[in-house]
Amino acid sequence: MAGISRFQYPPTIRIIRVMCSGRVDPIFVLKAFENGADGVLICGCHPGDCHYVEGNLIAERRIKKLKKLLKAIGIEPERLRLEWVSASEGLKFSQVVKEFTEQIIKLGPLFPDESTSQQ
Ligand code: FES
Repeated sequence: MAGISRFQYPPTIRIIRVMCSGRVDPIFVLKAFENGADGVLICGCHPGDCHYVEGNLIAERRIKKLKKLLKAIGIEPERLRLEWVSASEGLKFSQVVKEFTEQIIKLGPLFPDESTSQQ
């Protein structure tokens, strides 16, 4: 809906569509960080609205555990965020993306040395 409604959001994000937030394997998140992402935002349907009944609740449990793992390996847990945003909430999506982008900019690059050496 954000695209159709022409709500602006930062071009810094790369959208990867999956059928359900419950489809996001924690390995996907770790791979994203390994491949240079400074943050990962997962958007899922609101509780009770998941088309796969409880995929979003599974995602929520995974993200909580994954945040603990990130902290243990020295990555700020704030670099990973889960938000409930339905497909019809284009404005909320654009606001969440803007807010998350600002948060990631404040945190800085995940691997500062690598980002400067690749340029
Ligand atoms: S279909 Fe499961 S979170 Fe949207």
